[in-house]
Amino acid sequence: MAKTQRIDKVLSNLGYGSRKDIRKVCKDGLVKVDGKVIKSSSVHIDPESSEIIIGNEVVDYREFVYIMLNKPQGVVSATEDNRDETVVDLLDEKYVPFEVFPVGRLDKDTEGLLLLTNDGKLAHNLLSPKKHVSKTYYAKVDGIVTEEDIEKFKEGVYIEEDYKTLPANLKILKSDEISEIELTIHEGKFHQVKRMFKAVDKTVIYLKRLSMGPLKLDNRLDLGEYRELNEDELNKLRDHK
Ligand code: URA
Repeated sequence: MAKTQRIDKVLSNLGYGSRKDIRKVCKDGLVKVDGKVIKSSSVHIDPESSEIIIGNEVVDYREFVYIMLNKPQGVVSATEDNRDETVVDLLDEKYVPFEVFPVGRLDKDTEGLLLLTNDGKLAHNLLSPKKHVSKTYYAKVDGIVTEEDIEKFKEGVYIEEDYKTLPANLKILKSDEISEIELTIHEGKFHQVKRMFKAVDKTVIYLKRLSMGPLKLDNRLDLGEYRELNEDELNKLRDHK
């Protein structure tokens, strides 16, 4: 069924100005819907199926946006903060009207994959503790990571007095005074990776998220860079059970 909305609401939600501004551009005859000039901003249209033109610009309508960010250190995973720059501050202002938020959190000093969207349902599905969505991290660890740690993480370790982690898959890339590892976990407790290594007497000194469920960080993105998800990534995320 077609979902119609007032054209001033559609356009102001997309960042084309206030409803008052839209009333004026409509009055001036600058707005066309499916080739027809719309003089009144209270007209209802179906933005999904209509072509809207303002002046010479075809409006790129979408309800939701999905952005993959390579989060740098020093920014917080929030929409607002009194002290620190947030991940949302890194985005172009054209995204402001969409009111995106980060799907879950990375610590201020963690880098890597962070999804930002305004699709609450998709975010909820990815974050639901019941879904056990996997997350893979690369870390540098102060201390020699051993086969024994692999076994312990497979078993689960206590990161709180009465909380044992779910089985996690630890892969050692380099075992040395400063070790390098990849760790896949299926939950998202506060400071989870750092606390798991604390539980085996080691300290994470660098942490980067590589993937979340089926979504992998695009290695062409430098720190602080982002791009919208492509169709394939979005379908995989939507289909992810
Ligand atoms: N685990 C952590 O300790 N920190 C993060 O940012 C993510 C997972």
